[in-house]
Amino acid sequence: MDFLKQIALPQSEAQIGVLHFVLNVIYLILLPFISYLFGALILSLYTNRRGRLNGQQHDLRFSEEVISHILPTKNIVVLFGAVPFMALVFAYAQLLQSSTAISVSILTWGALLFAAAAAFASSYQTSTKLNGILHGVTKSNEEIETYRAQMNEARRTSGKYALLFLSFAVYLLIAGTSLASQPEQWLSTSSIVQLLLSLDVWVKVIQFILLSLTIASLGTLYFTFSWQGGVKNIENGYADHVKKTALPVGLLSLLAQPLFVVLSVVLLPVSALSGLVFISAFLVIFFIFITSHFVYGMLKEFKTGFAANAFYTLILAIVFMVIQTTSSLSSSTQKHSAVVAHQYEMYHAELLAKMGIGMATMSGEEIFGAKCSACHEFGAKKVGPAYKEVLPKYENKREQLLSFVLNPQKINPAYPPMPNQGLKPAEADSITAYIMLMYKQAK
Ligand code: HEC
Repeated sequence: MDFLKQIALPQSEAQIGVLHFVLNVIYLILLPFISYLFGALILSLYTNRRGRLNGQQHDLRFSEEVISHILPTKNIVVLFGAVPFMALVFAYAQLLQSSTAISVSILTWGALLFAAAAAFASSYQTSTKLNGILHGVTKSNEEIETYRAQMNEARRTSGKYALLFLSFAVYLLIAGTSLASQPEQWLSTSSIVQLLLSLDVWVKVIQFILLSLTIASLGTLYFTFSWQGGVKNIENGYADHVKKTALPVGLLSLLAQPLFVVLSVVLLPVSALSGLVFISAFLVIFFIFITSHFVYGMLKEFKTGFAANAFYTLILAIVFMVIQTTSSLSSSTQKHSAVVAHQYEMYHAELLAKMGIGMATMSGEEIFGAKCSACHEFGAKKVGPAYKEVLPKYENKREQLLSFVLNPQKINPAYPPMPNQGLKPAEADSITAYIMLMYKQAK
């Protein structure tokens, strides 16, 4: 997967700044979406199983709705998942170019597994829709019943595979990005297996699972009760069921999170720490606290306004999680970025030299030998006049000499016009410096 690093373009300091900004945007789309999807799949599969075992219709309905909130159509998973995931891989490939970090390969595998997860998630979504339609069929006979059972079976299978592939994809996403923030580990980490032992990665994995359960349960409350006025004509029985299922999961997963936020900061290498990392970690905990306040409020006395508030404050917490992640990345990769920016300067200078600007490719003496000596000598006239005759008027007027050499004008009627030698500005610069120097030395 190293080809990605090879196609990476050298980046200037300013471009690296832009890249960090782009990375923020990517994370802001990817993190809420992927965690919601993960949590929704867990809740959906869990309630589906519980519903089948107890014959609970509300559970089966919950199982379908929780997934249709996050995947209203099939394309969503491509738009909000696969595309930002690929963009993330490219952004990291740019940032980590010419480093020894294996992050980019890990992330690429993550993106491929995510594509598989996305395919299963869309078929899960489709069969969920079909199940919904089958519910509408009130007539019941043996044929419809068997069809229903088969559909449910197919649905669960795709759901399980979606969750399985998504778990691997998320693990690789976390392992790859966490390694990127630890330049100290770049040289010694040569395979993903070493990351299986990384405490830092596992703390982040648990933090992700908790977040996914929170966002999926608070999202379900939000979409059921608040978004666009909530689900119309919802029966009390089902409304209660949603509250009873989502609220405890939401609250418990929320309350466990601050511990992991603190741990994730503690486990960061010193090079990744900055004021911004601390401030954003503090704000994550602050907004988690406010969110749990609303969730607790809903447990005591349910208000639809609380469902919206809780969801929005959770999104704010996620925004600061993203800032925490990207700011620790930018401080830990500062040194590497300086190297990349330096390489860019070199690349840039080389490019300019190729165009004849900046670095000269030939010395003045060489140019003289190749392009001028056929017609000029210092002391005697040849096709053109002797330099010692014509150069005095250019003393302290290098600019004028330069402009003549780049663009010869007719001057002395005793000579034919001098043909343009097609020099690049840098070459003209060194040849004029050379002939002036020789002329002064001869004087
Ligand atoms: C094909 C022959 C030829 C070549 C090659 C040539 N020159 Fe000339 N050069 C001339 C002639 C002829 C003149 C006189 C032009 C005039 O007075 O109009 C001249 C004039 C000049 C002058 C005097 C201009 C002035 O103000 O009187 C300079 C300086 C000069 N050449 C520099 C160079 C340099 C540097 C090169 C090599 C990059 C070069 N020339 C290559 C033929 C040549």
